[in-house]
Amino acid sequence: MKGIILAGGRGERLFPITRAISKQLLPVYDKPMVFYPLCSLMRCGIREILVITRPDETARFRELLADGAQWGLEISYGTQDRPRGIAEAPIIAADFIGESRFALALGDNIFFGADFDRCLDTAISGHPGATVFLKDVGQPERYGVMSYDDRGLAERIVEKPAHPPSSHAVTGLYIYDTDAVGIAQSLAPSARGEIEITDVNNAFLSQGRLGAAVLPASVSWMDMGTPQGLLEASRAVAAEQEKLGVRIGVPEQVALRNKWIDAEQVLRIAEGYGENDYGRYLHDLVRGG
Ligand code: G1P
Repeated sequence: MKGIILAGGRGERLFPITRAISKQLLPVYDKPMVFYPLCSLMRCGIREILVITRPDETARFRELLADGAQWGLEISYGTQDRPRGIAEAPIIAADFIGESRFALALGDNIFFGADFDRCLDTAISGHPGATVFLKDVGQPERYGVMSYDDRGLAERIVEKPAHPPSSHAVTGLYIYDTDAVGIAQSLAPSARGEIEITDVNNAFLSQGRLGAAVLPASVSWMDMGTPQGLLEASRAVAAEQEKLGVRIGVPEQVALRNKWIDAEQVLRIAEGYGENDYGRYLHDLVRGG
């Protein structure tokens, strides 16, 4: 399986913060935002990853993530020159995807919680064509929302409905088979001028090939489109790390756990950070701090 991180967009709701830098490079507590979706894909067991950025930002992402070899990954880069919608990601990535299944992670979505790995495993092994992950939220009107029929079966996803049919928001991590590319290519833009990932998901749903996994309360999900969202995510990461004594969104940690790199490699990376906090954490990971 391959992975795509969509890290394009202008981040206008965060202006002026994002006037000169991509949203997905901003700090979320102690790491750049893009580390979190990167780790979500790595936790799916994915090693081949395409990062889609604005053309003027590729160099910066490359400076941060390089070719991924340091984490046992193969990272390549694609560009989205205008924000034409999330569903453009599979179109841009068509050659990269080839005949593979793939996971698409939005660059501003963060997931954590011990049960997240189990949710991913179940979704990946029981794959019916596409899978979306749903989360019970307080303000579903801000998201894509699942509506259910009388029997409680998933019926349709409605994008940012004024009157949400349920409290189940569609989160920014999707698993697809290769058909998603053709479906995305056939879409017409919505009223907001974008081709909508919700339309891709509804196409799978109407074919009876969409799995909808509801994330349990033990899995947290946040998207970070606004200053408030950014602050809340930083606070949540800090609190979770404090509670667990383990950090989240650390690629070295996931790579080591997946046996994609060894302890020596973690120490080599740690040396590059010197005596700073992240370097000490990496050192303690393998030396037992
Ligand atoms: C997008 C999707 C929406 C989903 C959300 C998750 O919204 O269109 O269905 O719930 O991501 O972050 P957007 O960020 O384009 O407003």
